[in-house]
Amino acid sequence: MNGNSPMSKAFPKGFLWGASTSAYQVEGASREDGKGPSWQDEKVMPEGTTDFAVAADQYHHYKEDVALMAQMGLKAYRFSIAWTRIFPQGDGAVNPKGAAYYDNLINELLAHGIEPVVTMFHFDYPMGLQKKGGWSVRESIDWFCRYANTLFDLYGDRVKYWLTINEQNLQTLYGKLIGTFHAGADCQNELQDIYQQNHHMFVAQARVIQECHRRFPDAKIGPALNVALAYPLTPKTEDVLAAQNYNSIRNWYYLDALVRGERNQIVRKYLEDRGALPIEEADDYDEMKKAHPDFIAFNYYNSLCCEADDGSTQGMDAKVFVARGIKGLFKGCKNPYLETTQYGWEIDPEGLFAVARQLQERYGLPLLVTENGLGNRDELVDGRVHDSYRIDYLAKHIEMMRRAVEEGCNFIGYCPWSAVDLVSTTKGITKRYGFIYVDRDETDLRQCRRYRKDSFYWYQKVIRSNGTEL
Ligand code: BG6
Repeated sequence: MNGNSPMSKAFPKGFLWGASTSAYQVEGASREDGKGPSWQDEKVMPEGTTDFAVAADQYHHYKEDVALMAQMGLKAYRFSIAWTRIFPQGDGAVNPKGAAYYDNLINELLAHGIEPVVTMFHFDYPMGLQKKGGWSVRESIDWFCRYANTLFDLYGDRVKYWLTINEQNLQTLYGKLIGTFHAGADCQNELQDIYQQNHHMFVAQARVIQECHRRFPDAKIGPALNVALAYPLTPKTEDVLAAQNYNSIRNWYYLDALVRGERNQIVRKYLEDRGALPIEEADDYDEMKKAHPDFIAFNYYNSLCCEADDGSTQGMDAKVFVARGIKGLFKGCKNPYLETTQYGWEIDPEGLFAVARQLQERYGLPLLVTENGLGNRDELVDGRVHDSYRIDYLAKHIEMMRRAVEEGCNFIGYCPWSAVDLVSTTKGITKRYGFIYVDRDETDLRQCRRYRKDSFYWYQKVIRSNGTEL
C-alpha cells in the first residue's frame, strides 16, 4: 500500500466502532416495572403498523443482545434512556426498577468491553410533563436538568459519553410526523410554539453540558442532530440561495446556538417575518456560549435537494413544518443524480464526506456519527438474512468517512443504525435496519428470536481491521 492508496490513513486508535438504538424503538416493556407513558406510547400508528409496546423486546433480551454485540466486536453501544423509566411522570421520585434496568445494561456492556454512549432524550417525552405544558413552558428547562442530573448521579461513575437530545432539529421541523410535536396549552402560533420549545431545549442542554463538565471533567458530552446538506438543483443563484436557506433552517441554526452560542441570522429573519421568534431571557445565549460541547454527534442518512420557490410552495404542511418547502425560502425537489432506498431515501455516501468537512470547517469539533443506515424489508430465509444492499450502503459511507479523516476531519466514532432490528418511527418493524434480525412482524410477536445477518459478519471484519477491510 503506498502513501496515496485509498487506505493510507487508518481510523485513529480507540475509534468507537459501535451501533445505535433508542429506548422506545428497541426495549418494549412499555408499561413494565413502573414505566410511565411517553409521547410515543400515545402515538397513533398507521393501520397495520405495530406500536412500541413490545418493539424488539430488548428489555428482556438485553443480555443476549450485549453478548451478540460483543461477538460482533462493537467498541460502543449508543442507546437512549427512557425518561419515563427513571421518572414515570417525568419528575418526582426515581423509579428504582427503571433505574436498575440501565444499571444492569451499563454493567453488562462494560463487562463485555463495550463503551456505553448514552442519549438522554430520544423522542420519548413523559406525558406527565406534557400535561404540565411540556417543552412549551420555561419550567421544561428545569425538568430536563433535574432528569439529566439524576442520570449523572446514577450512571456518571461509568458513562463517559453522553448525548443530550436526539435530533432536536427534526423534532422542530418534522415533529408532527415523528410524534414529538404537541402544541402548548396557550398556543396561538404553532411556528412560534415549536421554536419556543426548541429554545428551551437549547438552554436546557447548555446547562446540562456545563453541569456534566463540572461534575465529570473526564466525561464527554454533546448534542446529536440530524445533519444533511441541501444541494441547489442548478447553479442558478436563486437555487443556491434557496439551498443556503434550507441549510440554515435545517442545520446551522442548531449548531450555531449549541456550539457557539450564536443566533443564526437567516433563521432569525425567517421567524421574525412570521411573528414566530421565541421569547428569550437576557442571558440565555451567554449561557449557551459557556456550554462548549466536546464533540458534534450527528445522524446521517441522506442528502437534500432544493430549488427556489416558484410560488407553488404553500404555507406549512398539515403534518410537518417544512414538508415540500417553505414559502418564499426554498422548495424541496428530487435529486436527479441519486438512487433511493426501498423507502425513497436518497443514497448519497459522498454527502457524508461533504457534511463532515462542513462541520469540521465551521465548528472544529470532534465528530461522532450516531446514526447511518439503510431501512429495508429484509427477509429471513433458513435462519439467514442476505443483506448485501446494507453492506454496500455502509461500506460506501465508511469509505467516505475515511476520506474525510484523511483530509483532517476528526472523527472519533461511527455508530450506525441499528444494532438490532427495531421499530421504525412510522413504518413499523417491516423497515429494518439492524445487523441482528429480530424475528417478529407487525402483528405476530413470535419469540423475537435473534439471527445474525450477513452484515453482522461483515461489520465484525470491518471492526477487526479498524475500517481497512470493507
Ligand atoms: C432518525 C431517528 O431520524 O432516523 C431514529 O433518530 C429513526 O429514531 C431513524 O428510527 C430512521 O428513521 P425511520 O423513520 O426509518 O425509523
